[in-house]
Amino acid sequence: MINLLITGSSGYIASTFIYKLLSQYTNYQIIAIDKVLSINKEKLLSKFKNKIKFYQLDLLNYQKLEEVFKANEIDIVIHFAALTLVNESENEPFTYLNNNLNSTINLLDLMIKYNVFNIVFSSSASVYGNAIYTPIDENHPLNPLSFYGLTKKISEEIIINYNRKGLNYIILRYFNPAGVIDDLGEEHNPETHLIPLLIKSIINKTTFKVYGNNYNTPDGTCIRDFIHISDLVDAHILSLESIINEDNLNEIFNVGINKGYSILQVIETAEKVLNQKVNYIIDNPRKGDVPILVAKSDKIISKLKFSPKYDLSDIILDVFNYEKSKQIQKY
Ligand SMILES: NC(=O)c1ccc[n+]([C@@H]2O[C@H](COP(=O)([O-])OP(=O)(O)OC[C@H]3O[C@@H](n4cnc5c(N)ncnc54)[C@H](O)[C@@H]3O)[C@@H](O)[C@H]2O)c1
Repeated sequence: MINLLITGSSGYIASTFIYKLLSQYTNYQIIAIDKVLSINKEKLLSKFKNKIKFYQLDLLNYQKLEEVFKANEIDIVIHFAALTLVNESENEPFTYLNNNLNSTINLLDLMIKYNVFNIVFSSSASVYGNAIYTPIDENHPLNPLSFYGLTKKISEEIIINYNRKGLNYIILRYFNPAGVIDDLGEEHNPETHLIPLLIKSIINKTTFKVYGNNYNTPDGTCIRDFIHISDLVDAHILSLESIINEDNLNEIFNVGINKGYSILQVIETAEKVLNQKVNYIIDNPRKGDVPILVAKSDKIISKLKFSPKYDLSDIILDVFNYEKSKQIQKY
């Protein structure tokens, strides 16, 4: 049995990861930590009660976190927990630096103290900042434009330095995850991500806001690389397998699908897939948003045999069905 410590387990990506992992494999036991409860956490526990031990605690609380390490034999940590809103991080730098860096430092210190030497870390394409070239490979310079991105860049550096203490790591730089696995979807509060906002505005027949159309891109709107959550989860499962089987892998991987869509192209795709007109307006650009973030993910494709299966149309359809079913449940 492999004991996995998952931080941020009530969140979107961690909960979908746990769900798919436990649905496919029987040899994992989950020790889950989050400071909040969530609807996704409840859905997980209702299905996999015996496979998940949930601790509601703040990673900033070193003593409480140490109790988890004392009580469990942990083999691998996947560190998903973070504050994640780019715009908010610009308004509240201390909160972001304090939470994202100190929670990582507490975790790493306890890992070494309790002989846990394997970590998979959730990083982000926001570490790159303005792309000097595109698609972006892992060697692209790191120049984050937000405090959120800065916390990811510094966390990466700290993790890499812990290699001198024996830590094996895989750092995954996600591009734009979206979509649904079974009945687990994106439940951020507030929601700032494009796809759920777009789909909610289509369903509720409200006007969708496009943030800026004066970027240096062909149609003036930002370009992003959307990866289906199911593919992103697979990247974690492959990372787990390789960290279990190979000592000293110590790699950084982009996780995207090597394809960019502008915001207007996303709207067009939604109109086509859902056969509905989208009402939108152009609003001011948001702080910290960069014009183009498209991954070159060849490294994870060749080293971990990662093979993404879904495209933007699948994401849009899944999120539409998910949001629709939530509406039906309300009545
Ligand atoms: N969703 C994206 O588009 C995206 C893109 C790139 C990277 N990421 C990274 O992936 C990870 C997961 O993202 P998500 O979209 O699932 O976010 P989320 O907000 O849904 O989940 C994050 C979880 O971390 C928990 N958390 C934060 N600080 C904590 C602390 N101090 N102690 C305990 N729990 C804490 C939160 O309560 C939350 O449940 C994050 O590290 C994020 O930066 C996400």
